[in-house]
Amino acid sequence: MIVKIKSNLLIGVDLGTAYTKVYLKEIGMVTELPTVIAFNNQNNSVIAIGDEAKNMLGRNPQNINVVRPILKGVVTHFDEALVFLEKVIEKIKKEYLGLFGIKMVIGVPLDLTEVQKKGVIDVALGCGVKKVFLVEEPMAAALGANLDIEEARGVFIVDIGGGTTDIALISLGGVVIGRSIRIGGDTFNLGIVNHIKSKYNLVIGERQAEEAKISVSNILVKSNQSFVLKGRDIITGLPKEVTFHSSDLRESILEDLEEIVNVIKDILNLAPPDLLGDISENGIYLAGGGSLIHGIDSFIEKEVKLKINVIEEPKYSVIRGIGKILEDLNHYQKLLINVSS
Ligand SMILES: Nc1ncnc2c1ncn2[C@@H]1O[C@H](COP(=O)(O)OP(=O)(O)OP(=O)(O)O)[C@@H](O)[C@H]1O
Ligand SMILES: [Mg+2]
Repeated sequence: MIVKIKSNLLIGVDLGTAYTKVYLKEIGMVTELPTVIAFNNQNNSVIAIGDEAKNMLGRNPQNINVVRPILKGVVTHFDEALVFLEKVIEKIKKEYLGLFGIKMVIGVPLDLTEVQKKGVIDVALGCGVKKVFLVEEPMAAALGANLDIEEARGVFIVDIGGGTTDIALISLGGVVIGRSIRIGGDTFNLGIVNHIKSKYNLVIGERQAEEAKISVSNILVKSNQSFVLKGRDIITGLPKEVTFHSSDLRESILEDLEEIVNVIKDILNLAPPDLLGDISENGIYLAGGGSLIHGIDSFIEKEVKLKINVIEEPKYSVIRGIGKILEDLNHYQKLLINVSS
């Protein structure tokens, strides 16, 4: 489908560790793809991006280099991130004519240094974007959940993404207290790999661990969800199968969940009393793909004794919020970090 749209296009990008989501003003979310790119080592040409590249992870021959350019929310492979974003824009250009004079709003995790923010901006400018604005992801996530973040009321949001969990208390259009911790879907996957190795003497890869996590996606004791893992027995060196249950998922990610709870408690401890009252009333909001695991809400609820609300379609809360900003840039300009001209 080719849609003709006007110039001075506004594009919103959630350049996530795991998935990149793109929103076009007046159109909506137009693409979502894994933030992965595959190169041919010999001539550096791009072989694939997105799902196709992700499928090559851990399976690639020596002449193919598969890169995840964003790690833990941060641009760790600058050149690769640039090519990735260029390819994404190219793909959109094929479907939507008139892409020039692009302005872009990009979500970034909390706690990025100035150098890291500049890295994100340089990636966009390198793709020919005219003006770049950044927005802190928890603010976008809260907007995407239709929470009123401009009032003098406290909104507590926890975005469990692929690379980071951003925990923020928002009020009057700003983050009052917030932290980004390097815990999320990726560390959950690693937790599964390690748990399976120590409990069953079975070696599996991170891709399969993620498949098992998404397939089971439940840490409730009463759940009987399961997934058959296929790997190598450490002792015999031979292939072996093991059934992975929701109890395994719970054990695999328990430490990470405890860490998330500790940071939530730290922030609650530091919260101004007036805002604490609002949080007691409304509870905590969960966003991000990690919060799709059933039972994470009740785990946190039990620990912090507050109501936990999982936002609808939590993976898309940030890009929905970015979309809201694009649709009314004048109004929301005040929420943005303007770093280039
Ligand atoms: N049903 C599911 N159950 C459990 N985990 C899931 C499910 N669906 C997606 N995930 C996990 O959610 C993560 C991706 O979430 P999300 O798209 O919010 O992250 P991101 O925005 O790319 O990362 P970040 O914000 O940390 O940079 C991945 O780790 C993925 O494995
Ligand atoms: Mg995210």
